[in-house]
Amino acid sequence: MSVTVRVPAKVNVQLGVGGLRADGFHDLANVFFAVALGDEVTAADGEPGTGITLTCSGPDADAVPLDDGNLAARAARLLAAHHGLAEPDLRLHIAKAIPVAGGMAGGSADGAAALVACDALWELRTPVEVLLELAAELGSDVPFALLGGVALGRGRGEILEALPVGGTFHWVFAVADGGLSTPAVFRECDRLREEAGTGSSDTDVATPDADPGLLAALAEGDAAALAGALANDLQPAALSLRPALADTLRAGTEAGAIGALVSGSGPTCAFLAKDADSAAAVAEALRRSGTCRAAHATYGPVPGAEVLGAEVFGG
Ligand code: C5P
Repeated sequence: MSVTVRVPAKVNVQLGVGGLRADGFHDLANVFFAVALGDEVTAADGEPGTGITLTCSGPDADAVPLDDGNLAARAARLLAAHHGLAEPDLRLHIAKAIPVAGGMAGGSADGAAALVACDALWELRTPVEVLLELAAELGSDVPFALLGGVALGRGRGEILEALPVGGTFHWVFAVADGGLSTPAVFRECDRLREEAGTGSSDTDVATPDADPGLLAALAEGDAAALAGALANDLQPAALSLRPALADTLRAGTEAGAIGALVSGSGPTCAFLAKDADSAAAVAEALRRSGTCRAAHATYGPVPGAEVLGAEVFGG
């Protein structure tokens, strides 16, 4: 038996970053937006005694760590332990389309997909609230990959509130060469705040809030208004670590994108287009610009991790 789950990448249309907390995380006002660029994770029973084996396919498969730390393997182990099951014999395959270490929560998406796939494979019927709690244990962005759509994430990003959206938005993602480490980008954000003299702890920096104008633009499906409200407090840090991203942002804007920002902790750059044709043209111009390794036109919002199909092997 095998189960395949499709899971979306995310872009943060607002990423408000508060001060550094005592536990090493930052309080966020994080407006997550799920896009149709996604991975597929297949879970299948393994031979007895083989434990969890992980494989990956796709153009960037070589960059995906296939060790025990991979969030898909950790998710399977966590779900089994939660239900008091023994270490599973399980084959997990990731068909990777989300940029690796790109600021689009690709690893988190695979963790969410593995939770859903194993839950179906092992016929556990875990309540969604429990899956969301397990997801939050795995990482700050994992619960949103379960939920999908558009949501406001508070706390370290794991406390979610679904948001209303009035239409489909068209996006382009420019993939950079190599990834950026999320902790390193948060550290650079803190360093820049110290350098600017504002301080970086949660007593120095006000807790961020969602921008009401941005929420209204989403609710009304107004791409131009959303473009004007896009905001990412991690962008200066990502640009400081990777100055060439400024060229990518400029190339997409010159090609007609109505909004541009670094996606999450980067280095993927996200561009909002006025419609699907414009998104295709921006993607083509970005490919020709020489400022990125690949460019993908896509859209959203789309649902979170969902089972595509289950197959029974050998009758
Ligand atoms: O939760 P996750 O494991 O994805 O976070 C990775 C790292 O990103 C954390 O260890 C922390 O350094 C940083 N982070 C943060 N504040 C958040 C989320 C992540 O500082 N709200």
